[in-house]
Amino acid sequence: MATSYRECHFEMHFSPLQPRFAAPALASFLQIFLYFWLFSTPFAVALDLEPILPVPSDHGDLDISPDLAARSPLSPTYEPVFTPFDRSIIGRAAEGWESLKDNEPFEGKLDEGSILRFEFPLSDVSSRNPDERRLELRDEEKENLAEEDDDAEKLERRQNSRRVYISANTCEQPMPVDPSKTTSLPPQLTLFVSKSADFMAPGLFADDPQQWVVSFTEGAVMFDFPADHNVYMAVHAPNVSDDFTGSYSFKIAASTDHSYFSFKDRNTNDLIWVDSDSQGALLYTHSLTATNDPEVQEKALSSQPYVLFAHNQNDTSINGLKYSYCGLQKRAQIALSDGRGTDLVKSSMITRGAEGFVRQQFFFRSLNSSSKYWGILAKDRSLTSNKRQNQAGGGQEVFQAINFTTKSDHNNCALITDLEFCNEVAYSVPHNPTKEQFKDLRDLGVWYDTFAKINYENFNKSLSQIQCEAPSSQMYSLVRNCTDCARAYKNWLCTVAIPRCEGFDNNDSWLQPRAVFQPYPNGERLSDEVLAQFKPFENMTSFNRSRSTRIDETITPGPHKELLPCDWLCYDLVRNCPAKLGFSCPKPDSIGFEHNYGQPDPDAGRTPTCNYQGAAHTLSAAPGRFSGGDVWGLRSWVILAGVVGVLVT
Ligand SMILES: *[C@@H]1O[C@H](CO)[C@@H](O)[C@H](O)[C@H]1NC(C)=O
Ligand SMILES: *[C@@H]1O[C@H](CO)[C@@H](O)[C@H](O)[C@H]1NC(C)=O
Ligand SMILES: *[C@@H]1O[C@H](CO)[C@@H](O)[C@H](O)[C@H]1NC(C)=O
Ligand SMILES: *[C@@H]1O[C@H](CO)[C@@H](O)[C@H](O)[C@H]1NC(C)=O
Ligand SMILES: *[C@@H]1O[C@H](CO)[C@@H](O)[C@H](O)[C@H]1NC(C)=O
Ligand SMILES: *[C@@H]1O[C@H](CO)[C@@H](O)[C@H](O)[C@H]1NC(C)=O
Ligand SMILES: *[C@@H]1O[C@H](CO)[C@@H](O)[C@H](O)[C@H]1NC(C)=O
Ligand SMILES: *[C@@H]1O[C@H](CO)[C@@H](O)[C@H](O)[C@H]1NC(C)=O
Ligand SMILES: *[C@@H]1O[C@H](CO)[C@@H](O)[C@H](O)[C@H]1NC(C)=O
Repeated sequence: MATSYRECHFEMHFSPLQPRFAAPALASFLQIFLYFWLFSTPFAVALDLEPILPVPSDHGDLDISPDLAARSPLSPTYEPVFTPFDRSIIGRAAEGWESLKDNEPFEGKLDEGSILRFEFPLSDVSSRNPDERRLELRDEEKENLAEEDDDAEKLERRQNSRRVYISANTCEQPMPVDPSKTTSLPPQLTLFVSKSADFMAPGLFADDPQQWVVSFTEGAVMFDFPADHNVYMAVHAPNVSDDFTGSYSFKIAASTDHSYFSFKDRNTNDLIWVDSDSQGALLYTHSLTATNDPEVQEKALSSQPYVLFAHNQNDTSINGLKYSYCGLQKRAQIALSDGRGTDLVKSSMITRGAEGFVRQQFFFRSLNSSSKYWGILAKDRSLTSNKRQNQAGGGQEVFQAINFTTKSDHNNCALITDLEFCNEVAYSVPHNPTKEQFKDLRDLGVWYDTFAKINYENFNKSLSQIQCEAPSSQMYSLVRNCTDCARAYKNWLCTVAIPRCEGFDNNDSWLQPRAVFQPYPNGERLSDEVLAQFKPFENMTSFNRSRSTRIDETITPGPHKELLPCDWLCYDLVRNCPAKLGFSCPKPDSIGFEHNYGQPDPDAGRTPTCNYQGAAHTLSAAPGRFSGGDVWGLRSWVILAGVVGVLVT
């Protein structure tokens, strides 16, 4: 078992070359990418104005007379009110108008073709000064609000008006009578908002200049505007075809501080899909802290701020409701907020990443194989806040749905995470479910982790013989010390000792086929047709074996593909460690490089093309992809330097 770290190279079939003089160039590249990586996932609350849509004109069944604006033509339940009158004398909402209170949601039901009207008496809302209301918001929201509102606010203060935020969520919508036949979705609700205090009956037949018309998107609407008067609005349900049955229900809230219900209509990497196996998936949030202050860390670790909804995409029942918290709460197959599917997903707080920032992790089990899922992150502020009434922005926020898939059913890749030594590992590894020893996946994790740990201990012994603690004049480098070397070695070691597994049916070109000629755990083999394709490689270890003989001997996972470790992990190692240790990297295009290291590919979209500790399916720059250009730069630099000396082992 006591393999030395050098033999570890041998087993991985590396061949060396010595680019240590590339250090300064790579150092600045790495600094640049780290900078972008760390600061490229802002947490922003979208308060974008909805586009104003034209009034729908498909309802020709009513008498349209010129003064319709002052009537309530479509409401079967509410009496029309003809004349605007002074609300301050009456002191309550007129008949036919529900009165909305600041930051208090109202729940309504609507049959098709009907309308519900609301009044938001602005005069009742105590005017708090903007700084005071900011105090009620969390830091992240303060920033956003500050940025987005400052200009508008200054203008409004001058004009003695306030900003009014109207937001709503569709909780229920008509369901298809026969889901197998209906591919369309029921139509969305529409919000009408009056532009003046004199016009109390916004709706389908009112004149456009008198009102704003905002259609719901995926079951939600956010709309804000400056107002100096009581606000009248209406929510209208359209007629629905006979393919659907049932009615609508929704929640609406008005506020002078912040949208009560909110959603993000673009992907900002708030939720990140890390990896999956045939029955599970691992997702986590962006980092929730930006400091290593133990007090802040501890506080962040003590509560779980988010909930998660997940839903198999082959079921359409959440379509049209993906921005609606109460809609997802009712329809999503897995709804953590409701305790539904908690046996399928475990939520926990973790610290991962070199900086040790806090994230919330969602670890799914017992999903269907080869399936595509929606994962939707959400936050219920009415639970996480101190439950004070009228809390600014105290409602629910929904983030854009992300896609994640499960692997096919051969079950020879398994997700492991929360290892003791390789604590950054959170991905699928070669596995064999028929081995009694690995029935519990935690034991599989321990098996891989132990191997890495033993190698690290050998390395540590060698490192301790180097002048790490020496005064700087005697240290191996003025810019690097043994801490840097140990970190780089650990990153490299954990990635090469714990290979990342993909299903054999994944045809991404950067994946390395492994153990092609071996049987699957259940005894099946690849089809003759596929085997014939691999015939030319039958004598190549990199195709007919797993990454290490250890894996073939103990696990025998059978055919799988490997997401190869990124080449920069090796360059990073060589750059950070003393030359005495004799580390070196294979030259690109050499025998030792091919089939052993992968390269970041900036064109591959959100899928990582090589593995490193923390690689995930993100949208924007991640270290592996961002450094793509840098690694190319480094490569040509190395080649230009004329370094050769390939040692095939
Ligand atoms: C909407 O539904 C009502 C009630 O079924 C019906 O009277 C009306 O004609 C419908 N309108 C349109 C435009 O289909
Ligand atoms: C798995 O598929 C079955 C249908 O075969 C479905 O009823 C079930 O909800 C699915 N489970 C999940 C977690 O997607
Ligand atoms: C959904 O997927 C599961 C397997 O993941 C499958 O068994 C089921 O038949 C699918 N349902 C539909 C409606 O396609
Ligand atoms: C999810 O996948 C669909 C195609 O299947 C794509 O149109 C959509 O943009 C993807 N969503 C995200 C957030 O990547
Ligand atoms: C590495 O060795 C040093 C002493 O040389 C020791 O303090 C440290 O705990 C060791 N680290 C590991 C992970 O074994
Ligand atoms: C090594 O250098 C880093 C900065 O690069 C520094 O933070 C750390 O304290 C140093 N470690 C030792 C043991 O000198
Ligand atoms: C990968 O390619 C093989 C044929 O080369 C094909 O049978 C298989 O369906 C492909 N897999 C996917 C997921 O497209
Ligand atoms: C693999 O090795 C065997 C035995 O040495 C040989 O017969 C066969 O031709 C080789 N296959 C290829 C593709 O080179
Ligand atoms: C795999 O390749 C090695 C040569 O690297 C060869 O000796 C061995 O026979 C091959 N094994 C299989 C199962 O083809």
